[in-house]
Amino acid sequence: MNTRKRDIAMPDAALMDKLVSLAKRRGYVFQSSEIYGGLGSVWDYGPLGVELKRNLKDRWWRSMVHERSDIEGIDAAILMHPKVWEASGHLAGFTDPLVDCKVCKNRFRADDGRIKGEPGTPDAKCPVCGNTGTLTAPRMFNLMFKTFMGPVEEAAAVVYLRPETAQGIYVNYLNVMQASRQKIPFGIAQIGKAFRNEITPGNFIFRTREFEQMEMQFFVKPEEDERWFEEWKEARMVWHRSLGIDPARLRFHEHGADELAHYAKTAFDIEYQFPFGWQEFEGIHNRTDFDLSRHQESSGKKLEQIDTVTKERFIPYIIETSLGADRLALVVLADAYREEEVAGEQRVVLALAPAIAPIKAGVFPLVKKDGMPEFAHRVCDDLRRLFPVFYDDGGSIGRRYRRQDEAGTPFGITVDGQTMDDQTVTVRDRDTLAQERVPADRLVSYLAERLGS
Ligand code: GAP
Repeated sequence: MNTRKRDIAMPDAALMDKLVSLAKRRGYVFQSSEIYGGLGSVWDYGPLGVELKRNLKDRWWRSMVHERSDIEGIDAAILMHPKVWEASGHLAGFTDPLVDCKVCKNRFRADDGRIKGEPGTPDAKCPVCGNTGTLTAPRMFNLMFKTFMGPVEEAAAVVYLRPETAQGIYVNYLNVMQASRQKIPFGIAQIGKAFRNEITPGNFIFRTREFEQMEMQFFVKPEEDERWFEEWKEARMVWHRSLGIDPARLRFHEHGADELAHYAKTAFDIEYQFPFGWQEFEGIHNRTDFDLSRHQESSGKKLEQIDTVTKERFIPYIIETSLGADRLALVVLADAYREEEVAGEQRVVLALAPAIAPIKAGVFPLVKKDGMPEFAHRVCDDLRRLFPVFYDDGGSIGRRYRRQDEAGTPFGITVDGQTMDDQTVTVRDRDTLAQERVPADRLVSYLAERLGS
């Protein structure tokens, strides 16, 4: 069997098309409001997608909050006082430069690498229609979604959908410290939705206008920032490898001075080699005391700490790890996608690590008679108490295996004639295709050993 990694030679666009279509066919991701023609760059997760994303989020939460004594969790509201965004710098600075083509009406970010020449000058060439001198000068465009609080749509009632979850942590950090009796250094973790009115969204769930972030803000003494930065940078890469992502497709990218966000002193991205190239999916940022200083100044509330030894006052520095749940879902889907030839037949497999696979086992009666369906249902009922499993008696056994291969299900359990004699079942491994006979009453421990956590 050919077990090689995803074929690098496959044309990128073709691979993305295949992923999008598999995601729809198997119930991972659907276009939002599809029956109305879809809503630009907004996606819905189907029955398998919601499980995959939940597994990723649960794993992240466990490693950040449950397995450590120095990180607490919170779940802050999406809507926040508008002054938060003034203080954080998002109102003034969370902007992208936008240019329009006067001829084809397409819209680009001014720093779009496909634009030739300086937008707004006679030399600038539109990357879509190819006309020269038709691009407008850049206009700054704020990425925050605005809405109104209360019945009157007036300036005083404007609120924003948060563009990052981080600010909900900063404004709560003293509450969390006091309630949990944590001391510096400690962290606060949060998973939640964020919204950005992206100018050029795209690439499926890579860049969307509504997305989920998994962010952790670690509060440290200013002089310890670099040590903690290094520690978190390494820890995050180790965590991604633990998901079974191909290490050859993971790398760090350090932000140059021209790339740094307005709040960052140092920033490293963790990048994955997507079918459309190397791109960030997690950022590790040294945000210094920027955010807390700004909130202290703007709110008038003291957000300082007192050094237990020197008794000096200081504003903690913040080391942030910021991961997109949707981007991570795309990373694991793209990384798991394989096309292989098995015994002269093509198969598509999502070789997801068993710990994150949405369904852990498919259960198949070989035929719909001789007590096999009843036995298979009993197996399902037993397993379902511990893992998500899927019963399927439709079509040939080969077709049922193929469907689960595409869905990313790591094990296939078949109830056949022999089962009726000796109560053993066949367990097929999705990746090696090895088949083993296992007593039905040992299935729970057999699977538990192989699924990982
Ligand atoms: N709090 C820091 C922050 O938000 P960021 O680099 O702007 O930093 C962090 O975003 C992560 O959030 C990204 O690495 C990405 O995974 C995810 N993300 C950001 N914008 C996104 C979008 N439009 N669609 C999907 N994910 C996005």
